[in-house]
Amino acid sequence: MSRVSVVTGGTSGIGRGIAEKILTHSGPEDLVFVSYGHNRERAEAFWEALSEENKKKVILLRADMSSYEEMICFAREITERAGHVDWLVNNVGIGIYKKYEDYTFEEWTKVVNTNLSIPVFLVKELRPVMEKGGSILFTGSYAGQQAYSSSLVYGVTKAAIHFLTKSLVKEFEPKGITVNAIAPGFIQTAWHENRSPESYERINKKIALHRFGEVSEVSDMAYAILTNGYMNGSVVDIHGGYDYF
Ligand SMILES: NC(=O)c1ccc[n+]([C@@H]2O[C@H](COP(=O)([O-])OP(=O)(O)OC[C@H]3O[C@@H](n4cnc5c(N)ncnc54)[C@H](OP(=O)(O)O)[C@@H]3O)[C@@H](O)[C@H]2O)c1
Repeated sequence: MSRVSVVTGGTSGIGRGIAEKILTHSGPEDLVFVSYGHNRERAEAFWEALSEENKKKVILLRADMSSYEEMICFAREITERAGHVDWLVNNVGIGIYKKYEDYTFEEWTKVVNTNLSIPVFLVKELRPVMEKGGSILFTGSYAGQQAYSSSLVYGVTKAAIHFLTKSLVKEFEPKGITVNAIAPGFIQTAWHENRSPESYERINKKIALHRFGEVSEVSDMAYAILTNGYMNGSVVDIHGGYDYF
């Protein structure tokens, strides 16, 4: 049977790296559902960069992953078009860089919905069509391991994702599906596009390798986890040696 993968937020950064890695190792009948949210330009650039062969395997769907209704439509479309899912990569994430005392309830709720609640319910929605031997992967963050983040709500949601990863292992035991997460440190993506040279310098001083990670370094690891049959309930840090000194 063909392999069906789902990558949310798969047209940029880490998600795009994972989607492309899956495609590199895909067979002719495999399908990869890739979602994007607001950035049509980046989605088009992702699509244009695909080979003709891979364009036949990718189903690009727009879905606002802060919205329960849009997530449900996304999940239904996958179920109707593919009938089953093998790999589910929950990668969408947002942050908010404001002081805690300045948060509004709406801002807090949007981050919690996007980073935590929608992934919880997307997994729940796709659970019935997930196959034995399948794999669920969350993009967590090292900001959910250490409270270093300048975004409190972001760190809280990522810590919750790590706990969710471990909690779901039991839920998916009867189906023989593994659940893992990656916890990246600072990875060079559009996420950091507004960072100043001074900020890069300050952070690089705290990383033992003195540089941000490359998307390919994270997507290689994500792929290794997806294809590893015995990893289950793991949250894998990848941060170049952050905060060791
Ligand atoms: N880069 C890092 O240093 C780093 C470190 C640790 C963890 N992470 C995590 O890695 C994941 C990917 O981030 P990235 O660094 O690759 O940055 P990115 O390129 O900005 O990726 C974020 C993705 O989330 C999607 N997204 C955001 N809000 C959405 C919404 N409401 N509905 C649908 N899609 C939405 C974006 O799609 P649109 O642009 O189309 O809306 C985009 O594809 C996130 O979960 C992030 O927390 C990143």
